[in-house]
Amino acid sequence: MSETKISASIADAMVTVSELAAIAAYEEVGRGDEKQADQAAVDAMRTALNQVEMRGRIVIGEGERDEAPMLYIGEEVGTGTGPEIDIALDPLEGTTLTAKAMPNALAVLAIAPRGGLLFSPDVYMDKIAVGPGYDKGIVSLDATPAENITAMAKVKGVPVNQMTACVLDRPRHAPIIESLRSVGARIALITDGDVAGVINTTDPSTGIDLYVGQGGAPEGVLAASALKCVGGQMQGRLHFRNDEERARAARTGITNLDRLYDLNELASGDTVFCATGVTNGDLLTGVSINGGGVHTETLVMSSSTGLIRKVRSTRRLS
Ligand code: FBP
Repeated sequence: MSETKISASIADAMVTVSELAAIAAYEEVGRGDEKQADQAAVDAMRTALNQVEMRGRIVIGEGERDEAPMLYIGEEVGTGTGPEIDIALDPLEGTTLTAKAMPNALAVLAIAPRGGLLFSPDVYMDKIAVGPGYDKGIVSLDATPAENITAMAKVKGVPVNQMTACVLDRPRHAPIIESLRSVGARIALITDGDVAGVINTTDPSTGIDLYVGQGGAPEGVLAASALKCVGGQMQGRLHFRNDEERARAARTGITNLDRLYDLNELASGDTVFCATGVTNGDLLTGVSINGGGVHTETLVMSSSTGLIRKVRSTRRLS
């Protein structure tokens, strides 16, 4: 029978996995090659995962088996003994950010006991997320962005022009941007990296109140895993652009293509979330090499203990 809680030793092992992926990606920062950066992080994460004593299964990965030779959805990782763990991962969240040495690139993964994370196809997802402090239902994907941010402003007790929404800077988001601007809200546009965009809603120092828009479904499950630990709300709805994408849904067992998932459906189990900074960002300091060591900073959160830690590690350069 599958365990229901993640042990501290597995959680610690995941910090190492995340750190090693970030360090590998760091070698590629600013070198202009997104594929190479991603490959470096994938290789390092897979090697590290295979050393963890677990029967791991990738549920959110680099793609389907035929298109991703490593860390594909359904791949089994770990030593093959130990607890059954489901893994959502993005070894390099922000390939372009890394290639261009821009802020906020992360190595990210989340784990839960078997069945605790949505087994999602690699398609787009419409997402909306807010941090802690709002009643359930305050925002909805079925309301307009203007309605959502206005409702949040009322609860926060500030004029709506003092509210900020984070949105990925994409032409497809023009209607969302127009809706938010129609009520005077501020918009923080990001070029990439909506896992950090969602998590930033949980940290008042970022000034971000709401995340809204369409991004990767894998990143949606990862972001939900983080919010499950830190608090807040999120909804997601898969977005299919063609029949091939709808077929991918069928292969992961999803039959209701219009289903609206809430946070606890995206990440239903005891969740541990880890993210390590590759480049500096609002959320984390990126990898650096100085004083004879490689330094990393990793955010580690657990939904069952409610513990949120930032782990700073140094590996001596030999
Ligand atoms: P990659 O690291 O895979 O490039 O993803 C970055 C990202 O910005 C995600 O954070 C986001 O969910 C997705 O791409 C958005 O996709 P698109 O660039 O196609 O709009």
